[in-house]
Amino acid sequence: MNIILLGPPGAGKGTQAKVLEESHGLKQLSTGDMLRAAVAAGSDMGLKAKAIMDRGDLVSDEVILAVVAERMDQPDVKKGVVFDGFPRTPAQAEALDSMLAKRGQKLDAVIEMKVEDEELVKRISGRFTCAKCGTGYHDSFARPKVDGVCDVCGGTEFIRRADDNEKTVRDRLKVYNEQTAPLVSYYAKRGNLHSVDGMADIKMVTASIGRILDGIEG
Ligand code: AP5
Ligand code: MG
Ligand code: ZN
Repeated sequence: MNIILLGPPGAGKGTQAKVLEESHGLKQLSTGDMLRAAVAAGSDMGLKAKAIMDRGDLVSDEVILAVVAERMDQPDVKKGVVFDGFPRTPAQAEALDSMLAKRGQKLDAVIEMKVEDEELVKRISGRFTCAKCGTGYHDSFARPKVDGVCDVCGGTEFIRRADDNEKTVRDRLKVYNEQTAPLVSYYAKRGNLHSVDGMADIKMVTASIGRILDGIEG
């Protein structure tokens, strides 16, 4: 099963993708995480991407598509992928269609996560992530059970993203509305678009996504 979580910055794509890895045996494919790994590794591509990401713009379709195509050729994604933060432009959506077709696969569902702008800014401002396993947390909405210790892996180091400040979040939202929101109608026309109320709490959103996927599998 291949699904896309489509939604603005802070909608909860990464949070729910991690849950789906456990509950549905899918692999999370987060282009944002892949780019941040390239930045951390100090590769040429990473250095170029960092400046773009720090101002909240999109990295070029060409770079993103090369990275995704390479990932899609690895054996661990064969059972199914949850795309998180990809596709983000109509050109990326079209390229994903042909990438899947070429591999004899299809897109089973696109799940749009709807969240109001002010809530997104609040969520992103309080976000932090386990440095070891990538589990996401939030200062007010999703604290680790024991302060300073990751629930999942016991790690004690956490990171905050360079683009998680109010100014960049607002720029990222603008970019989302201009370049990514058109994908909602692109997928609606295909008939595989579903929507969830991303304003609900994390477990409720997980349950809504689960019901959509049950409908598809059944
Ligand atoms: P990317 O990493 O994809 O960031 P994004 O789309 O801006 O989304 P976020 O990761 O900020 O939000 P999320 O939806 O994952 O929310 P999360 O689950 O963490 O992209 C970063 C940059 O890379 C881009 O700006 C661009 O430059 C570049 N890039 C990436 N992909 C690209 C592409 N395809 N093309 C071109 N450029 C690309 O949740 C947020 C917080 O809220 C967390 O703290 C969480 O605990 C909390 N939370 C989650 N759900 C809830 C809930 N229901 N209630 C309360 N709190 C919640
Ligand atoms: Mg994310
Ligand atoms: Zn961890």
